[in-house]
Amino acid sequence: MKVAAQKRYGGPEVIEIVDRARPVPGAGKVLVEVHASTVTLADCAFRKADPFIVRFFGGLFRPKLDVLGDDIAGVVAELGPGVTRFAVGDRVHGCTGASLGGMAEYVCVKESAALVKVPDGVELLPLGGMSYAYLTAMPFMRDEARVKPGDRVLINGAASSVGAMAVQLAHHFGGEVTAVASGRHRALVERLGADHFIDRQQADFTANPGAYDVIFDAVGKSSFARSAPALRPGGIYLTTVPSWGIFWLMLTGGKRGGKRGRLATTGLRNEVDKLNDLHILNDLLARGVLRPVTDRVFPLDQIVDAHRYVEREVKAGDVVVAMPVAQAPLLLTSATEGAAAGSAIRA
Ligand SMILES: NC(=O)c1ccc[n+]([C@@H]2O[C@H](COP(=O)([O-])OP(=O)(O)OC[C@H]3O[C@@H](n4cnc5c(N)ncnc54)[C@H](OP(=O)(O)O)[C@@H]3O)[C@@H](O)[C@H]2O)c1
Repeated sequence: MKVAAQKRYGGPEVIEIVDRARPVPGAGKVLVEVHASTVTLADCAFRKADPFIVRFFGGLFRPKLDVLGDDIAGVVAELGPGVTRFAVGDRVHGCTGASLGGMAEYVCVKESAALVKVPDGVELLPLGGMSYAYLTAMPFMRDEARVKPGDRVLINGAASSVGAMAVQLAHHFGGEVTAVASGRHRALVERLGADHFIDRQQADFTANPGAYDVIFDAVGKSSFARSAPALRPGGIYLTTVPSWGIFWLMLTGGKRGGKRGRLATTGLRNEVDKLNDLHILNDLLARGVLRPVTDRVFPLDQIVDAHRYVEREVKAGDVVVAMPVAQAPLLLTSATEGAAAGSAIRA
């Protein structure tokens, strides 16, 4: 089978397509024929070991986890002994878990992992990027921001993978959503449910005193100190990206002037919580409440280009990598917009 592997940390060019033996699922594991995975900024961080802390998870001197890819959509190809939750032929999506390895034609995943069957009628390929976006945005919107009807919610980086999902979720929870993005992404975020739009190149969202109950910086480009004036008293600032400023705030009580600030590490949540949330995602997908947002689909043999593109930080929604089994027929339809539940939105 083909996998995208790297022998050393570095730029996109360290990734090579190599042949490996197809793995055999052990007890309690399933073998998934991967149809799609995704490349995210988190994958780029692991690829280059930047920030340095990545080396404590991924290998100090060289990558132990030499095949990236935590998020997959595919078809169960083989069952290990004792597996009862899945059957051969099930269409599935979710996370491979801490060992990664999803950027491959096949990967073994624990039956207990955050992996669920795909609802009928939902297209498989765009789901390759959706669990990453959803499993990040959902805990931020539901558990940290606790968005409720009428809340004024600002999403900075509203067209990013995480931001595009946060806009849909905040809208679903009844929030009045202000999306901050480049002007070229206005139509997209409005289709996702944004009530108001701020073009980040024309205006500064922090210049609206007391305007928001929640500010969620999906791309971590702002700071609590700059954003706090735009929060109402008791409001909360949330960010996906660590900084000394947010660490210091959280170490010293998490509040300044009656306004709160938090970083959450959603990627480190346990498998059971992620699995439960994927069941909720399936319900929202089946009802057409949430839709994947696909920017581009790269075939596996263009994985280096996919990394280069993601690192430019211009994408809207997800970059999906299609495995050879999926790419030929599905490329034509994966990025088209449709009103049906489960269809992807073209970014
Ligand atoms: N805390 C956690 O557990 C956790 C989990 C997952 C991901 N993350 C982090 O979350 C961040 C977002 O990930 P993602 O995959 O959603 O990002 P992404 O899709 O790669 O973000 C790309 C978007 O960022 C926007 N952008 C670029 N520069 C900007 C700026 N200066 N100000 C505002 N927006 C800007 C651009 O949109 P416009 O051109 O429209 O502005 C672009 O479309 C990453 O840093 C990732 O590592 C954290």
